[in-house]
Formats: sequence, structure tokens, C-alpha cells
Amino acid sequence: MHIETFELERNQSLYENTVRFNLTESGIHPYTLRELLSEEQQQEVLDLRLGYGQTNGDPALRQTIADLYPGCGPDDILVTNGSAEANFVAFWSLLEPGDEVAMMLPNYQLLYGLTRSLGCTVKPFHLREELNWAPDLDELASQMSSKTRVIALCNPNNPTGSILSSDDMQRIVALAREYDCYLLADEIYVGSELDGRETPSFMGLYDKTIVVSGLAKSLSHPGLRIGWLAGPREVIEGAWHHHDYTSISTGIISQYAANIILQPAKRREVLDRGRALLRTNVPVVEQWAAAHGDRFHMIAPRAGGMAFMRYNFDINSSELVTRLREDKSVLLVAGDWFGMDRYLRLGIGGNTDELVEGLELVNEFLLELEGG
Ligand SMILES: Cc1ncc(COP(=O)(O)O)c(C=O)c1O
Repeated sequence: MHIETFELERNQSLYENTVRFNLTESGIHPYTLRELLSEEQQQEVLDLRLGYGQTNGDPALRQTIADLYPGCGPDDILVTNGSAEANFVAFWSLLEPGDEVAMMLPNYQLLYGLTRSLGCTVKPFHLREELNWAPDLDELASQMSSKTRVIALCNPNNPTGSILSSDDMQRIVALAREYDCYLLADEIYVGSELDGRETPSFMGLYDKTIVVSGLAKSLSHPGLRIGWLAGPREVIEGAWHHHDYTSISTGIISQYAANIILQPAKRREVLDRGRALLRTNVPVVEQWAAAHGDRFHMIAPRAGGMAFMRYNFDINSSELVTRLREDKSVLLVAGDWFGMDRYLRLGIGGNTDELVEGLELVNEFLLELEGG
């Protein structure tokens, strides 16, 4: 089976731990276990028996996750190793060669590459910069056919930080209904909205909705590797069968911590911490971009741990990030990795001082680039 290189993840795998300033992260600064757990809970962790547990996820954790979604019960949930695995087992179990997937672009590359490797066709519909990164739904309508198995989107979106309006959500649901296809919504950035208004889920709007989410982004715990699928019973069953082939189950310690993070009061506390960080960092990046005049054009993100901006320097984006990494030990995401040259993505969910220092080094690099 041929699979395309996952440019973003490959570059992160190779370099994120070797550079001084890694500004590729799209999540929020992670917790330590000590910061997360009370002393009593830390003691409980020591007494956890490290078996496989229930392979589709601890029933109590599945109930906690189900409570996030209208009309869902624990059997409508599959707990996975990150939302990466949730996306993977969903598509691996649903798609047959020849199927089409109508896909929001730009988007996290996982589903794009996976769809193509499964012998299926991606039918893109684009977020348009001239519409403040709202989707072109006439384009979506024109991409739908009897072969459309799934409409796949990411809301709030990575990399633009945009959020669908409720009218756009309704129109997407209407198209899914008209063509009787699944609607897969990656909602891992729900809860990171700068204005504090949580983005409504697609769950409950349509009976063939599949939601992917997890703890890695808004919820600040990527290292626990906990994600999930919520959806129709037949999809969850099918994905669970496939999960038997990928990782069997998720870690017991991670599931224990997940069930703490997702309790309503703790979840609110974790999300508030993340939003406070974003509210500090977004203006930092906005001012930095504005100081470069018309060299950068950035629509401020409404949610998510990243800023996406167009640049006006005469250099390809992959070349820019490679030279920046080599010269200044700062890692950024190249627009090329989203199929959009002349754009850059910067992580804004981390430590503010490091962001400022990293951006100063980008300034030095750009000055040198201009100078020669
Ligand atoms: C939109 C989106 N979905 C899924 C993932 C994978 O996340 P996880 O760490 O939960 O596997 C990412 C990671 O960047 C992402 O941006």
C-alpha cells in the first residue's frame, strides 16, 4: 500500500526536538501529571493495575465522553490512541476503493493522505481567505455525487483557526442528508475559542454524524494519547473491529487521567487556562505580523493553537522553513505542507517568552534574507 509522506508530522518527527524554538505545535502548552492530579489521585495512579482494560475504552470514561454529545451513550463511543487513530480507524473501516470523500481544505493532512492511500478520491472544498476563511459551499455542492461516502471537515479548523457559522453548518448537514453520506467532523479544537463561546458540535444535527476529538489540542494533554470517535453504532462497531488490528486498547494510566480532565469542572479549568494563553499570544503574533507591513497578511484565528498567514517574500515556504531552521534553530510549518505555498503556520499555544524570542529570530532571518 502506497502512502504519501505526512509532511507536517515527518518534519516535526525529525526536527521538533532538535531546534531551540519549536513553533510548529498546534496545541496548548501541556500539563505535567503533578499539575493535573491531586495528591490523592497521584496515589491512586500508583495502585492502578496495568492490564489491557476494556479495549474500546473504560465504560466510565466512555460515559464521560458520551455526556459531551447530545443523544450519545457509552456504546456510541470508541476510545483511541489520539484522535489520529480515531480518524484512521474511522476511514479504514468506512471507505472502499472508488469512494469519494468531500473534504474541507486546508486541513490536517491525515485524512487527505489516508483517503488517497485507500484508493479513494478527495473532492476538495476550500476555505476562502477572501471570505475570512469561511468555506465555499457552492464548491462543496458541486463536488457531491452518488459516490460521496463522507464529507470530512475540521471545525474549528487547523490551520486557519476559523469556525463555521451555524448557517454553514446547516447547509453542510443538508448536503450530507441529500446524498445520504456520513459527515465526519474533527472537533479537536472545540473549547479553544478566543471569545469563550464553545463551538457547537455537529453531533445531534444529523444521524450519520461522526465526531473525532481528543485531549491533544484544546485540552492540553497530547502526551496521554487519548482520542475518541462518537457516532452511529454501526460505525463505532466497525471502527472497534479495526482498532483490534491497530493498538487493541489505550493505556490504563491515560484513561484514568482522561476521566479526570473531562469532568465538567476540570474540563472548564483546563480550557480556561488554554484560552488565557491564546489571548496573550494572539496579539503578540498580530503585532509582530503588522510590524512587517504588507509582507504578512494574517486573519486572526478565532480558535486553536496556531496562526496562519500569507507572506510576501520571494521564497518558497519549504525552503524558508528549512533555512530558518538551519540558520536560527526555529521551526515553523510551511504552507507547502498544507498544499499552500507562500503561507506559514505558527504555534501560539506555548510559552509567551519563547514565542517572542522565536519571533525575534525570525525577524533576524528575514532581514538577512532581504539583505542578500
Ligand atoms: C485537526 C487535528 N486532528 C487530529 C490531530 C491528531 O491529534 P492527536 O494527537 O490527538 O492524535 C491533529 C494534530 O495536530 C489535528 O490538528
